[in-house]
Amino acid sequence: MKSKEIRQKYLDFMKSKGHVIVPSASLIPENDPTTLFTGSGMQPMVPYLLGETHPDGKRIADSQKAFRDVDIENIGDNTHLTFFEMLGNWSFGDYFKKEQIEWIFEFWTRVLKFDPQKIYVSVYGGDAEIGIEKDSEAVEIWKKVFKKHGIEAKDLFDSQKKGMRDGRIFYYGDDNWWSRAGAPSKMPNGEPGGPDSEMFFDLGADKKFHENSPFKDQPCHINCDCGRFIEIGNNVFMEFVKTQKGFESLAKKNIDFGGGLERIVMISQNKDNVFDTDLFDNSMKKIEELSGKKRYESKEVTKAIRIIAEHLRSVTFIMGDNNGVGPSNTDQGYIVRRLIRRAIRYGRKLGIKKDLWTKEIVQKVINDYKSVYSELEKNKSFILDNLNQEEKKFAKTLKKGLKKFKEIVRKEEADNYKINGRVAFDLYQTYGFPIEMTEEMAAENDMEVDAKGFYKELKRHKELSRAGSEKKFKGGLADNQEQTVKMHTAAHLLLAGLQKILGGHVTQRGANITKDRLRFDFSHPKKITEEELKQVEDFVNEAIEKEIPVTMKEMSVKEAKACQAQGVFDDRYGNKVKVYSIKGYSKEICGGPHVKNTKKIGGFKISKEQSSGAGVRRIKAVLI
Ligand code: ALA
Repeated sequence: MKSKEIRQKYLDFMKSKGHVIVPSASLIPENDPTTLFTGSGMQPMVPYLLGETHPDGKRIADSQKAFRDVDIENIGDNTHLTFFEMLGNWSFGDYFKKEQIEWIFEFWTRVLKFDPQKIYVSVYGGDAEIGIEKDSEAVEIWKKVFKKHGIEAKDLFDSQKKGMRDGRIFYYGDDNWWSRAGAPSKMPNGEPGGPDSEMFFDLGADKKFHENSPFKDQPCHINCDCGRFIEIGNNVFMEFVKTQKGFESLAKKNIDFGGGLERIVMISQNKDNVFDTDLFDNSMKKIEELSGKKRYESKEVTKAIRIIAEHLRSVTFIMGDNNGVGPSNTDQGYIVRRLIRRAIRYGRKLGIKKDLWTKEIVQKVINDYKSVYSELEKNKSFILDNLNQEEKKFAKTLKKGLKKFKEIVRKEEADNYKINGRVAFDLYQTYGFPIEMTEEMAAENDMEVDAKGFYKELKRHKELSRAGSEKKFKGGLADNQEQTVKMHTAAHLLLAGLQKILGGHVTQRGANITKDRLRFDFSHPKKITEEELKQVEDFVNEAIEKEIPVTMKEMSVKEAKACQAQGVFDDRYGNKVKVYSIKGYSKEICGGPHVKNTKKIGGFKISKEQSSGAGVRRIKAVLI
């Protein structure tokens, strides 16, 4: 089965179980200050898990574009990816454990024909400290499901210490708890989470994964990372919310299932790594052709080809999103830059000589995916222009930078094997080497980099402060949901104000909200005068002072258009949408949440207006 068919089979299967299929949300979240990228299928669903009603009902499924920056260093092994597609289904207070476990097992075994003997599961082992018990309910359901296939499923604790012992169901602690922030202790108040049950596929003890792994001195178990067991999906029983008092039950019990498409395809296509599936085949072949190397020629070649294919696929999706971001020195743009430059460096290692070659790989990615993600074709010139520019920029300095690096290695070797912060900063500033690249190259030469010193230098130059984004990468969740909700309603009023004062040509080009400020990008050809800014600000404050109720109605996309609701990115919407209205001021398609009355916002102040690319302006605003 081709990957396209597998993705579709999942969606069709979930449809047959009463789910409404919705399109993927943007890879760049708009109203979620907690993270730079959408990193899982559940992220756009948080409001509904917390109790908002979803316009398409209680059963939803999709294939969500996701990006996890934390895995960049792992790329090149068999299964890790920065960008991936997450197949997901949700129950918002509808079905629960029994249906989810039975259905997903039916999908693995009947639809994808996975051998049930090769499927193992983990469940939550309980935690006395937070007063939540082991998940016996899930265990009982799993036992019945396996029994139907003639398998007596034994449930066991302590497999980390004692190994598999013919078990099938294994209890773990925090490993089987899911929330955006991770373990229960790491969750901020207001964050939903719950026990989960992960499913693993056994690639076979005969392949001797464990014996060749760094874990060979420990017993093998399904979570041991030796490579023998691969996670194919996670059923999260999302029924708790963390509060000041501890863990309380959410108003409704929810299901949040997510499974990585690439890994599922890998198993279905009988491969032992994601890169040999049809999802990467065309771009891998192109890299082989450009470099004249074969993907299994040597360990180094395998790794380099995979890194290039992986990184360029990721940047295609980030730049090709309807909220797409090109390379820059901040936030998402910095990640794009880092990925492109890392791909180019590995291209050099492989001996690719040609100029502007990355676009040839990206063209393959666009072709492979455009029938499923039409935005890639729509935004093709944005992707290719940005890519070419970045490649030209980097090519100018790369050769000199590498020469300089060699000198540094020679010189610093005499020192204490540590490249100091100032030197790392010079490589960044003059030669465009992202710090992570310098660190990686240093490691290849058995050296270290004084990253602290680098950041100090960076701060001094005030070019960018990655402190904020670093916090976001690590999943530092904003604790202050109320403030961001206020900001979100203010953003609607701001858009309406800009359209009233500047004209109907103004459309939203992206928004980013934290508890401290609102950043809003919109189309407008020239600088905005002080006078205009004052008028926009007055417009928003007038609506706040009038204490207008914020109301919500569900309708079809067609109806929403007919009543002239603002809708920025049409193709991401599901079959039904929510329209939030502030009578006399604003009407906008939006998932929410919003304040109940404009008076809650308090007061609104524009703090900055600037350019944000050709034809795009950016406003920063705060609440007072
Ligand atoms: N939200 C769950 C995950 O990402 C399904 O693993």
